Amino acid sequence: MDIRHKAAVITGGASGLGEGTVRKLIAAGGRCAIFDMNAARGQALAAEFPDQAIFCQVDVSDEASAQAGIAAALAAFGAIHICVNCAGIPGALGRTVSKKGPYPLAEFRRVLDINLVGTFNVARLAAAEMIKNEPDADTGERGVIVNTSSLAGIEGQMGQIAYAASKAGVIGLTLPMLRDLSQFNVRVLAVAPGLFETPMGAGAPPEIKAKLIETLEFPKRMGTPAEFGALVAFLVESSYMNGELIRIDAGTRPPPR
Ligand SMILES: NC(=O)c1ccc[n+]([C@@H]2O[C@H](COP(=O)([O-])OP(=O)(O)OC[C@H]3O[C@@H](n4cnc5c(N)ncnc54)[C@H](O)[C@@H]3O)[C@@H](O)[C@H]2O)c1
Repeated sequence: MDIRHKAAVITGGASGLGEGTVRKLIAAGGRCAIFDMNAARGQALAAEFPDQAIFCQVDVSDEASAQAGIAAALAAFGAIHICVNCAGIPGALGRTVSKKGPYPLAEFRRVLDINLVGTFNVARLAAAEMIKNEPDADTGERGVIVNTSSLAGIEGQMGQIAYAASKAGVIGLTLPMLRDLSQFNVRVLAVAPGLFETPMGAGAPPEIKAKLIETLEFPKRMGTPAEFGALVAFLVESSYMNGELIRIDAGTRPPPR
């Protein structure tokens, strides 16, 4: 799908990988509705691109909030062609059972609610709008959905039980979602990032960061939001790619801890 003049919803678009995606899609001639809880960052980013971006304060895990965001995106752009789900939280690290006892169920639910339910919530609402689009004259496409998983969803490490389960869920919904939406010419893809330089990824203390970087194959550095945004743009433009999970991780395979 040619990104030019297309409208995208980017959750978590105010920061990190979502922000990198907003910047890349706008540079490619698209328009973006930034769905995020962080109004200060989201508004500042949208203000950089007054003709191509809007900010919508959306809690992805809340149905009414996401519906209001979709309505605002439609009011601004008239259609939704692209949906990139980046909103997410790491949640509290903790083992299934630790010295403190079993991992808190409320925290497990909170992480799944934002990372997995939030991804599905926005994807389904965006898809309901995509199927109303006229098929693209060149490719026949009506829309593209890209969901963000994590290496933790494939090879979760000790202490990542809630986060890993939520990200495995994002992988799990890729194939059935694409099968559900194929008849409408909507593609669905998932991306599994490794270690990225974002407020979430860079939050670790320097010594932990250095240890993590040591586990990478090549390049031995954190990925950048621009590199993530470039992958998303490639997936949107690559009309024959569908139903795939793409790792972007410097070739690393995370150790158990
Ligand atoms: N940074 C990494 O190394 C890395 C690695 C693998 C996967 N990921 C995943 O990539 C995605 C983006 O992460 P990031 O590193 O850019 O993090 P980030 O913290 O920089 O950005 C996440 C954004 O999501 C928003 N958000 C959180 N909860 C929300 C909610 N309920 N509704 C709407 N917005 C909400 C935050 O306000 C923030 O702007 C996440 O899903 C994360 O799990 C990141």
